[in-house]
Amino acid sequence: MASPVFFYIISILFLQLVLVFGNVTLSSILSTNNNNSWLSLSGEFAFGFRQLNKNNTNFFMLAIWYNKISDKTIVWTAQNDNNLVQAPKGSQIQLTSGGLTLTTSQGDSLWTAQPNNAVSYGTMLDTGNFVLVNKTSTFVWESFNFPTDTLLPKQSLYLSGTLTSRFSETNFSSGRFQLYFNGDNVWMSPLAWPTQFRYNFYYRIVVPSNFDSSSLVFDELGDIYVETNNNNNGTRIKLQDTKWKNLVLDSKLYYYRATLDYYGVLTQYSHPRDINATQGWSIVRYVPDNICIAIFNEKGSGTCGYNSYCSMENQRPSCKCPYGYSLIDQSNQFGGCQLNFTLGCGADNGEGLNVKQEDLYEFTVVKDVDWPLSDYEEMHPYSQPDCQQSCLHDCMCAIAVFNNQTCWKKRLPLANGRAQSGGQLVLVKTRITPLGRVTPLGPNPSFAANDSKKDDQVKPILQGLLIGSTVINSILLAVVVFLTLLKPKRVVQGATLFETNLHSFSYEALKEATWGFREELGRGSFGIVYKGELKAEASCNVVAVKRLDRLIEDREKEFKTELRAIGKTCHKNLVRLIGFCDEGMHRMLVYEFMSNGTLADILFGQNKPIWNVRVEFALGIARGLVYLHEECDSSIIHCDIKPQNILIDDYFTAKISDFGLAKLLLADQSRTNTMIRGTRGYVAPEWFKNVPVTAKVDVYSFGAMLLEIICCRRSVVLMESGEEEKAILTDWACDCYMEGRIDTLVENDQEALDDIGRLENWIKIAIWCIQEHPEMRPTMRMVIQMLEGVVEVPNPPSPFSFDSIP
Ligand SMILES: *[C@@H]1O[C@H](CO)[C@@H](O)[C@H](O)[C@H]1NC(C)=O
Ligand SMILES: *[C@@H]1O[C@H](CO)[C@@H](O)[C@H](O)[C@H]1NC(C)=O
Ligand SMILES: *[C@@H]1O[C@H](CO)[C@@H](O)[C@H](O)[C@H]1NC(C)=O
Repeated sequence: MASPVFFYIISILFLQLVLVFGNVTLSSILSTNNNNSWLSLSGEFAFGFRQLNKNNTNFFMLAIWYNKISDKTIVWTAQNDNNLVQAPKGSQIQLTSGGLTLTTSQGDSLWTAQPNNAVSYGTMLDTGNFVLVNKTSTFVWESFNFPTDTLLPKQSLYLSGTLTSRFSETNFSSGRFQLYFNGDNVWMSPLAWPTQFRYNFYYRIVVPSNFDSSSLVFDELGDIYVETNNNNNGTRIKLQDTKWKNLVLDSKLYYYRATLDYYGVLTQYSHPRDINATQGWSIVRYVPDNICIAIFNEKGSGTCGYNSYCSMENQRPSCKCPYGYSLIDQSNQFGGCQLNFTLGCGADNGEGLNVKQEDLYEFTVVKDVDWPLSDYEEMHPYSQPDCQQSCLHDCMCAIAVFNNQTCWKKRLPLANGRAQSGGQLVLVKTRITPLGRVTPLGPNPSFAANDSKKDDQVKPILQGLLIGSTVINSILLAVVVFLTLLKPKRVVQGATLFETNLHSFSYEALKEATWGFREELGRGSFGIVYKGELKAEASCNVVAVKRLDRLIEDREKEFKTELRAIGKTCHKNLVRLIGFCDEGMHRMLVYEFMSNGTLADILFGQNKPIWNVRVEFALGIARGLVYLHEECDSSIIHCDIKPQNILIDDYFTAKISDFGLAKLLLADQSRTNTMIRGTRGYVAPEWFKNVPVTAKVDVYSFGAMLLEIICCRRSVVLMESGEEEKAILTDWACDCYMEGRIDTLVENDQEALDDIGRLENWIKIAIWCIQEHPEMRPTMRMVIQMLEGVVEVPNPPSPFSFDSIP
């Protein structure tokens, strides 16, 4: 039995050992060129350089972070007047008796911490505070006195202190919100970014006037409150809001931090200290309880950017664009939305004054949304039709809100948008897309070349397609189609849709069924899909309504032809078309609703589907494609096979959607004047070449998708440095196959590894499918035979080994 004395000696030894480890002696240096950092005694916190962001290896920030948890969450960064210090590669930080100096490799000083007193050593404390200490053991500089957006237990904010949010989740530059003292009260305000000018507050903690000196305290136990001092009688003032609960906190089990998040909420988070517990930060409590409605200023955009609206989801604000608008920056949902069309007076695009507004604009009705401060007119008493007419004929009017005989007209930019129920109808004005005029995104030589031809027929189509590209969800797969010539197909006159079982719906009926096109299910290259509910007349109640607003008038006859083809299809692995709407400008398709979302949601979501389920998905999709290519009346090439276009029903059956529509975009499948631009990894190479497009493009896409199903990862993923070879799945899978290490493709997936025979065969099949040359690829019928194991799979050549063959 070990005696207590033994433990005592051991602990003393241990303590001294790490104490030396915890001190930073004078003239110590950290450089961006090595991964060293200064650790606290327990190793829980580290001080050192961190990359500015994942992809930027040329710039670094000086930071303090939680070192033991896998997130390595940053709690402090070095700043000069609220500007993040960005240190180029090669910079170093040195501790001298004068303090800390951060210099570039050329010796330019970027940042300093220079106390008045001579420093004898520095220490990263276990509280997360980096301190400089003088000879008589006094802290002469503390990172705790220069907080950025985060407070830690034992850290307090005093009268001149501020917390400034970062710009976005991963961008540590100074952002759009601040928490600060003004008098004795604590306030939170939006900033007029990029300046530090403060707009009206949206949250405050009021300190009664008979108290002097107050501070925002985050105590050792994890509680946060304002402490005031009146003749040394401390009083605690609690934060007030429904989401700021009184809690029993346990700082022995959890790390706590309080961060002014980049969307303006002061949130207290917890993370288990136990590295075996489920990792990740959880929200403990926060103020204000609804940031979406808390900010209410004449100036500034609110939590979300301009022209968007905000709602609380999972205790966080989420920003959405109204119908007809899309995110300005796809990677930043808080960055605001832009119009996908021009708002003007009709004569704006040289159409002449004789064009009626009715032919240019339409309204979509939305409920439970408002932009309360963007009004410029309020009309009363007024009817809803009058309200809509008034907005229609008013070039300034972007949105009209109608409620109880009052009509508010709103102008751009729309600010302070929020989800808010109150019975108001929001009439969103959008340009009718067939005549739409949209500025192409970015320079586009092919577009410019076509444009100069001033071909009346081509122009609207091009623009319609470009509108499509602004709303395609997955940027990686955004495919822009350009047509230089159109050759309308011959249509058999007099044919009707009676031969199919399709319902024909009126526009009004579908508008009603979708509650005014309110609940968006997704967006694709053809338009937006809404959820809807039909009255008993149809066999299935819940439906998905796809608005084909990318079509133009000339395609009308083809629309009917295609509809007939789609209507006749019937296969377990195809999404069933129930009906359509073909009224005036409006083209819509009504499909059965699939409760389990898309294959992409399932494959790339949190819980990976098990191997056997994935095997069934792949077999089902392959069967669906065989049917489309060979078994239905007229062969249908899908042209856009990807996990986003595969839907999953209640019984986990994979069903192909969006089939039969490609021809509405591509004038003639076999012509070579069709050009598609896409991202390597999904799109068959012949799209870029002067060769006919055949059913083999679907085989290629199926191959790429089969690899995704096998590996449960996306076709193209940005990888950290050192793993770049994995970025493009098709390339990586070929490399792994050629090098005989296919097991690395399904690392940690024991079920897949247990089925190694199938795994190897299927990877071989995938490689056959993604052969560069279409004639090398098998047909879908051969693919299904190989997948089912009926036919042996020969060893595939490298897909790129025939590159030299013309
Ligand atoms: C480390 O810090 C302790 C005080 O916490 C001090 O007594 C000791 O001298 C320091 N060690 C070194 C090597 O500076
Ligand atoms: C250390 O700092 C404290 C506080 O500033 C000061 O009172 C003390 O004299 C300093 N000690 C030395 C040796 O300078
Ligand atoms: C952070 O955002 C600001 C403002 O948009 C931008 O200027 C800066 O380049 C961004 N920094 C990084 C590392 O992306």
